[in-house]
Amino acid sequence: MTDTRTAPKKVLIKTYGCQMNAYDSDRMADTLAAEGYRPTDDLAEADLVLLNTCHIREKAAEKVYSELGRLRVAKEEAARMGRRLTVGVAGCVAQAEGEEIARRAPVVDLVVGPQSYHSLPALLSRAAAGERAIETEFAIEEKFARLEAAGRAPARTPSAFLTVQEGCDKFCTFCVVPYTRGAEVSRPVERILAEAEALAAGGVREVTLLGQNVNAWHGLGPDGREWGLGELLFRLAEIPGLDRLRYTTSHPRDMDDTLIAAHRDLAELMPYLHLPVQSGSDRILKAMNRRHTADDYRALVDRIRTARPDIALSSDLIVGFPGETDADFAATMRLVEAVGYAACFSFKYSARPGTPAATRDGQVDEAVKSERLAQLQALIAAQQDAFNRSKLGAAMDVLFEKKGRFAGQLAGKSPWLQAVQVEAPEALIGTIGRVAIERLGTNSLFGRLIGTAGGAGAPALAEAAS
Ligand code: SAH
Ligand code: SF4
Ligand code: F3S
Repeated sequence: MTDTRTAPKKVLIKTYGCQMNAYDSDRMADTLAAEGYRPTDDLAEADLVLLNTCHIREKAAEKVYSELGRLRVAKEEAARMGRRLTVGVAGCVAQAEGEEIARRAPVVDLVVGPQSYHSLPALLSRAAAGERAIETEFAIEEKFARLEAAGRAPARTPSAFLTVQEGCDKFCTFCVVPYTRGAEVSRPVERILAEAEALAAGGVREVTLLGQNVNAWHGLGPDGREWGLGELLFRLAEIPGLDRLRYTTSHPRDMDDTLIAAHRDLAELMPYLHLPVQSGSDRILKAMNRRHTADDYRALVDRIRTARPDIALSSDLIVGFPGETDADFAATMRLVEAVGYAACFSFKYSARPGTPAATRDGQVDEAVKSERLAQLQALIAAQQDAFNRSKLGAAMDVLFEKKGRFAGQLAGKSPWLQAVQVEAPEALIGTIGRVAIERLGTNSLFGRLIGTAGGAGAPALAEAAS
C-alpha cells in the first residue's frame, strides 16, 4: 500500500568523472528508490544531494569543494524553510580524502567510497540520527553482491552500460585509480549474462561493457574454461536483441588474440576501440609504468586493423609527464600522426598526491604543458575532422537513441560512436535505421533515413516509412 501521508523523498545525484561513475550513480539511484527516494534535477526540492566525484586530476577534485560551498548555502536556505537537506559525497574523492572532506566541509553529512555503496541506506539512517557517517572500506566483492541484490531498474535508453570489472592492478605512476577503486575484481559470467539478458528483454539494443581495465576481465566460463573478455563478447553476441556491443576502457597489454578475433568475427562488436597510449616516447612510457613501447603499440594497432579494417581508434594522451623533453613530446606527436585517431582525450599531467610520479624530479613547467597540449590538440582536431569527413556520402547503420535537437529529428549513434541527427519519427527510437550522411556539423553528422537495418526494429521502421 502506498503511504499517502508523506510525499516521496527526493534525491539529486551529480556525477563527475568517468562512465564508471555514471553507472554507479544509476545503481545508487536504484538502491535509493527502494528506500523511497525519487530522482530530481531541482536542488530546491531535494532532500538528499549526492556528489559522485572524480579524483583523476587536481581540477576534477577541486570542483567538489566549490560545489560543497554552494551546497552550504542551499542547506542553510532549506533549514530556514524548515526542511532538512542531507549532503553526501560519493566516488573517488570520497575514497581518497574522506576524512579531509569531513574536516574541510562541515556541510557534509555522509561520505561513501565506491566500494561501500551497499551501505548507503545504513549511512542515511545514521545521518538522519544526526551522526556524521563516513564509510570508505574496501570490500569490492561485497559491493557487487549487494548492488546485485538490490536489482537493476529497467534501462531508460536503448543503449546501456554494464559493469563487468572494477579496480586496477596496473599502477601507472601518474594514476590514482588503483588507490581509489582498489584491486581488480571481475564479475562472474552468469551475473553479467543475466544482466545483459534482462537489458535486452527491456529493449536495450546496445551494451557497453565497463571497467577501469575492462579487458583485464576474466572469469570461469560455463564450459569450465577460464574466459577473457573475447570469450565473453562471443557469448554476449548470442543474446537475441543485443545488436551492438562495445567495451571501455582497455589497456594495450590486455588485448589478447581472442579479443582481436572478436573484432574480426563479430558483426555485433562495433568497429570502435578506445585504446589509450598516453605517450609516444619509450622513455616516458617506461617512467609511466605502462609496460609497453611505442612500437609494441603500433604493432598491436596493425593487428587490430588487419582483423577489422574499418575500426576507428581513440586514445588518452598526457603531456608534461615529469621528465618529458621536447624530443619525448615530438615522439608523441609522431605516434598520433602514424596511428591516425578518430578522437582523442588529451590532458596536462596533474600531480596526484600518493602517486609515485607526483614527487619525481623534472616536473614540467605549466607554460610548457599548455604549449604542448595546444599543439597536440590541433593535431587531434584535424584527425577527428578528417575521420568525420571520410563518412560524408556514406550509408551507415544508426541506432536512434532519443529525440534530436529540433522537432522531427532523432539523435542517434553511428557504429563509430559519432552523433548522428536524422529526420525520423519518434516511433523509431530504439531501432536501427540505414542512414545516408549528407552534412557535417561541429559535433554531429546529419543524415537522411534511407531504409531499415533489420533486427527487432525493422517492422516498426517499415510501417513508418510506408
Ligand atoms: N584505465 C584507463 C584510464 C583511466 S583514467 C586506462 O588505463 O587507460 C583516464 C585518463 O585520465 C587516463 O587514460 C589518463 O590519460 C588520464 N589521467 C590519469 N591520471 C592523470 C594525471 N595524473 N594527470 C593527467 N591525466 C591523467
Ligand atoms: Fe590508471 Fe593505469 Fe590503471 Fe588506467 S591502467 S586505471 S591509467 S593505473
Ligand atoms: Fe575519476 Fe574515479 Fe573514474 S578518479 S576517472 S571517477 S575511476
